[in-house]
Amino acid sequence: MACISGSADTGWRAVGNHFSAGRRGWRWKAFDLDKLRIGIIGLGRGRDHARRVAESPRCELIGIADIVEEAAQKAAEELKAQAYYKDYRKLIRAGNLDAVIISTPNHLHAPMSLACMKAGLHVLVEKPMCNTLREADEMVRTAKRTKRKLLVGYNYRWRPAFQKTKEIISTGQLGRLLYANCVVKTWRAKSYYERAAWRTKWATQGGGVLMNQATHHLDSLSWWMGEAKMVIGFCENLYHDMEVEDTGSAFIKFKSGATLNFMASTAVEGSLAPAFEFNGTDATLSFGPTGLVLKAKDAKEWTKVELPEGGDTTGIQLDAFLDCILNDSPSPVPPEDGRRALELSLAIYRSSFLGRPVTLPLRRGQRIHPPTRTAKRRSGRG
Ligand SMILES: NC(=O)c1ccc[n+]([C@@H]2O[C@H](COP(=O)([O-])OP(=O)(O)OC[C@H]3O[C@@H](n4cnc5c(N)ncnc54)[C@H](O)[C@@H]3O)[C@@H](O)[C@H]2O)c1
Repeated sequence: MACISGSADTGWRAVGNHFSAGRRGWRWKAFDLDKLRIGIIGLGRGRDHARRVAESPRCELIGIADIVEEAAQKAAEELKAQAYYKDYRKLIRAGNLDAVIISTPNHLHAPMSLACMKAGLHVLVEKPMCNTLREADEMVRTAKRTKRKLLVGYNYRWRPAFQKTKEIISTGQLGRLLYANCVVKTWRAKSYYERAAWRTKWATQGGGVLMNQATHHLDSLSWWMGEAKMVIGFCENLYHDMEVEDTGSAFIKFKSGATLNFMASTAVEGSLAPAFEFNGTDATLSFGPTGLVLKAKDAKEWTKVELPEGGDTTGIQLDAFLDCILNDSPSPVPPEDGRRALELSLAIYRSSFLGRPVTLPLRRGQRIHPPTRTAKRRSGRG
């Protein structure tokens, strides 16, 4: 890392001082050369990230950007960040960062990640990585070309039960995987959507429950089961009145030959059904609210699978991000994985829109939903 003067462990660095509105002065601040310098873009979920960065002994919270300047100022003061900005481009232009965490509405993930990587910064971008395959491809290419780490924020992967499921499936303890099901029944009140209208629109969230809540599950299912080859999807609104779906269901055929029945909703709550279940030729793994249980084909009883104590997955994810930067090791959740989860959501949408099965890979630019009211108005057909 660049340093102006100092010992091996500490140095001095010029930082922009933006605490008083309109002032753009400079001040000098001692810094620790071992600590990575992080910026946060978007406060909401981004506040959780900012707090963890501020509390971590391995990194330093340098700046915070949010289009609501007062929110950025307040968070910067509370968390002792050195600077705050209304325009995220000024945060990256300040030239005093190693990495950023992007936690803005989904449609901003691609342009912001690209700008940050092109400015030489490593990026942790919240899930989903972006809204279209075209954007995803550009993010994959740019991460390679700029040699920056790009980590997609699928923090569920660090839950002990998710890690254990990966281990059990990939070490062949179930035999050949035949069938799986996944049920994601959650409830989001009307106020959740009213608070942030971007969550209700194709143009901003890129979809509904499949692009927001259940993208975690679709990512993990791809991580456990590999690539899908065919999807039959059905999306609808069971309760909420909005452009994007509150409920999505799908039948998915994987390249391995395994099939998956999938359902996700923000319109219902409460289920005794396990969140995931996997039937293999040798055993079944059931994954519910009380943890994981395994039953070998010839066993009479289910066996509880012991799990290590769960940690704070957002904090673990931050450590994994810092590790891959410092060790120059591959991103633990690379953009290729983010693209695969995105493609699954898009395939469910396309199948639902067309009313027939779709095969993967999807082609970039294929339509995934009917024209929205806004698009119809713009083209003069609405
Ligand atoms: N991993 C998880 O478990 C998890 C949980 C919640 C949200 N998320 C993801 O985090 C992202 C943000 O979601 P949220 O619920 O915090 O949304 P939110 O609407 O609560 O917060 C978004 C923030 O981004 C800011 N913003 C909007 N446009 C901006 C711009 N141009 N420049 C800078 N800041 C801008 C807004 O002012 C707001 O503070 C989404 O992608 C969502 O999917 C992930």
